[in-house]
Amino acid sequence: MYLTIYLSLFFLSLYLLGLLIRRVYFFRDQARMLQESRPGGRVIARVEEVGPGSVKKFWLICQKYRLDAFLINYQGTFHAYVNRCRHMTTPLDFVRYQFFTEDGSRLVCLTHGALYEPASGLCVEGPCKGLSLYRLPVLVDRGQVLVDCPPGDFSFLAE
Ligand code: FES
Repeated sequence: MYLTIYLSLFFLSLYLLGLLIRRVYFFRDQARMLQESRPGGRVIARVEEVGPGSVKKFWLICQKYRLDAFLINYQGTFHAYVNRCRHMTTPLDFVRYQFFTEDGSRLVCLTHGALYEPASGLCVEGPCKGLSLYRLPVLVDRGQVLVDCPPGDFSFLAE
């Protein structure tokens, strides 16, 4: 009887501690996002940092949510998407830091092999065919790439 109560209290304490740590990290990231933002969004990279065919992962704090995302340079144009496959809620690079197919013509989800068109985010092959990645607004300004939160309600995107 007592053992059950002690174990329940122990696991409840662990759970609450986990929530607290998560909250502390959230506020730390929120403060950092404010420091690194200006009109147009959060500064994600210098233009020369992300060359054609390159990817940079980042996160945004939007309203009360943290969004994991990635920035790509596809044929000289920058695009940013939430790092979440449209088939299931896994990141595209679930296993390793890889977003492009070998030939660089498509984005690939490594979980089940869905292929996305880099410029539009449209899934052109695989279980999510016809759906699109969630696009984030990108602005190139003064040699820097800024990405902003998407407009509207996107709570369904949050972790
Ligand atoms: S989770 Fe991406 S293709 Fe299945």
